[in-house]
Amino acid sequence: MKDGFGRRIDYLRVSVTDRCNLRCIYCMPEAGIPQIEHSAILRLEEIQQLVELIHQALNLRKIRITGGEPLVRRGIVSLVKSMAPLAETTMTTNGILLPKFSAELHAAGLSRVNISIDSLKNQVIREVTRRDVSLEMIEEAIGSAKANCLDPVKVNCVVLKGVNSDEPAEMIKWASGMGVTMRFIEHMPMTGSVCSHVAGDEILTGICAELGPVKKISTEGTAEMYVTDSGIRFGIIAPVGGGMCANCTRLRLTAEGELLPCLAGGESLDLGLMLRSGRKDSEIISAVHDLVAKKPHHGACGGVSMWRIGG
Ligand code: 5AD
Ligand code: SF4
Repeated sequence: MKDGFGRRIDYLRVSVTDRCNLRCIYCMPEAGIPQIEHSAILRLEEIQQLVELIHQALNLRKIRITGGEPLVRRGIVSLVKSMAPLAETTMTTNGILLPKFSAELHAAGLSRVNISIDSLKNQVIREVTRRDVSLEMIEEAIGSAKANCLDPVKVNCVVLKGVNSDEPAEMIKWASGMGVTMRFIEHMPMTGSVCSHVAGDEILTGICAELGPVKKISTEGTAEMYVTDSGIRFGIIAPVGGGMCANCTRLRLTAEGELLPCLAGGESLDLGLMLRSGRKDSEIISAVHDLVAKKPHHGACGGVSMWRIGG
């Protein structure tokens, strides 16, 4: 279905939990998140039912499972299994639990994963994640994803001034050696985040200063893709200026069952409540249609929390 601006809305991001085993400084407050009552979180069957209804309403092309950290949710593999037959199913994960899950996820039908890495230096990784994470652990996650055909693997780095903003060029070379595609994300000023922003243009200038001129080659979803003189591809995702909004085809389902048409908020739909109060499938489908029709043309980031909506 197309929204009021002619965009075909066929990409659903599903947050399956608000919990995470890390506490990244750009995402969560140090003390963790305000606990959402257990009963407010959708049960696995409820997520499954809602995703199926949204698929009936919109004929989804792609589903991305997010969190919090999706792999800390019990039953995640069976959830993947229920979604994979509907549309291409992918996952965004911090990778920590991937070595344990990659084989099962692949068997359940997951097609790819995006993994976070915010530095090549263990000390900085620990500073950013506020947990005892090392480069070796992230490399192991990438290795296990590739060994289990969850590829092409994309790795995401949120660029933070004075923390890792001197590293993109090195990371591009490292990613090439690992056989993965590096993508740099502008930090969005969300609730719970305590970092400062480096604009996409500035990230690019820093990369060119070290690696020489780069060429823009394409747009892949929300990422502008570039290639270095030596032939390495990388991406820049710059949501802050709102430049991506015009091509946005996404909806987001939170772990509580709220359907959001835009990261920046605006009107939303409490599908969890509709489901729990026994509303008919046809009513839910028509409410999804109404929400899509009202998806805003663009939003202004801020005011929402990444651990709720999954980046
Ligand atoms: N700004 C930009 N990206 C963020 N993510 C989380 N918080 C932010 C933020 N404030 C992204 C990261 C992470 C994924 C789960 O969400 O890329 O890897
Ligand atoms: Fe967890 Fe991802 Fe947020 Fe880091 S960015 S705290 S890994 S949900």
